[in-house]
Amino acid sequence: MSFQYLLRSLAGTRAVLKSAHPTTPFTWQPARSLATSTNTIKKPPTAVLLTNMGGPETLDDVHDFLHNLFSDRDIMQLPWQKQLAKIIAKRRSPSIREQYAEIGGGSPILRWTRAQGQAMEKLLDEISPETAPHKHYIAFRYVEPYTDTALQQMKEDGVKRAVVFTQYPQYSCSTTGSSLNELQRGIDRAGLTDQIQWSIIDRWPTHPGFVEAMAVKIERKLAEYTAEERRDAIILFSAHSLPMQVVNRGDPYPAEVAASVQRVMERLGNQNAYRLVWQSQVGPKAWLGPQTSDALEGYAKAGKKNIVVVPIAFTSDHIETLYELDHEYGAEAKKAGVTGWKRAEALNDDPVFVKAMADIVKEHLQKNESASKQWYLRCPGCTTDACQTTRDFFPYKILDNKA
Ligand code: FES
Repeated sequence: MSFQYLLRSLAGTRAVLKSAHPTTPFTWQPARSLATSTNTIKKPPTAVLLTNMGGPETLDDVHDFLHNLFSDRDIMQLPWQKQLAKIIAKRRSPSIREQYAEIGGGSPILRWTRAQGQAMEKLLDEISPETAPHKHYIAFRYVEPYTDTALQQMKEDGVKRAVVFTQYPQYSCSTTGSSLNELQRGIDRAGLTDQIQWSIIDRWPTHPGFVEAMAVKIERKLAEYTAEERRDAIILFSAHSLPMQVVNRGDPYPAEVAASVQRVMERLGNQNAYRLVWQSQVGPKAWLGPQTSDALEGYAKAGKKNIVVVPIAFTSDHIETLYELDHEYGAEAKKAGVTGWKRAEALNDDPVFVKAMADIVKEHLQKNESASKQWYLRCPGCTTDACQTTRDFFPYKILDNKA
């Protein structure tokens, strides 16, 4: 991101990285007791560390969230980044606060992640008794619970085996990559290098459970049209865009999002025409397109009245679904003459999705692989030392099953 771009952002383009996935101030839930009344030490839980960007849970959290986001050198490298992050956060906070105010005063992402985690750990205890008990922890990148908070809790619980489970189905160095780099630094800070056996679920764009959960959400929306409307309805899969600079560096995200789309459409029997489009572009530089707003305008001009928009790269509601897709693009669609604009619901705590989460973790534990082979191949244009440091820290291996 260039300085020029930054100045233009400061001049007021829409939500610089609205992409900020929403968050919450953090309160710990009580840890499971590790000892019985007779002082028998119970087996420590198999930890499942859910990583995501997080988002401001209240309007007062917006500033710090933005400040942390713009300070992240895994997302953008700015000259005088410390100082500029402060300036941008201050400058952008009022308009981003307004957007969060529109969606109920804050991001629901912590609430949904907790609900997903609790339901997943319960299911895991049933379907994978050999690795029980399971306990979820949450590590957000830009708000509490931060990585350090989660690691402290894991330390207190005596965790010996931990699975890092990215909540981004499709891998990008800007999202999952940033979380893993921060995790590596956090483990170092917490002195947990040798105490815990780690492995990583770094992507799951085509997992059948994820595909099924998405397909069901789309089917439900399609069912709201009349038979005639449905025949002609189109499906717009919308994912957060990336600067072309990141795409051309070799980030795997666009290909993995496309793979998800392909599988979901196959599951739906390819009954409707569809396109993959990209949202949340900011600034004057080139981003991956077509943009969602341009696509809906183009299709409106072509006479398409019924469009189901699908947030294919998000697993829970946040500002990109509740504000951008529903409010902003919803209004644009109406203005353009799209009378049947419908947004497929986010996965949130849908039982089909929670089952998929539990299956993904179970399959990973059975495989006993430290991470996917794909994760160890850095982007061909990567010049970030932290990417290699993190991979060295979690070397590829087949693990001994200590769970
Ligand atoms: Fe992709 Fe470093 S930026 S591996």
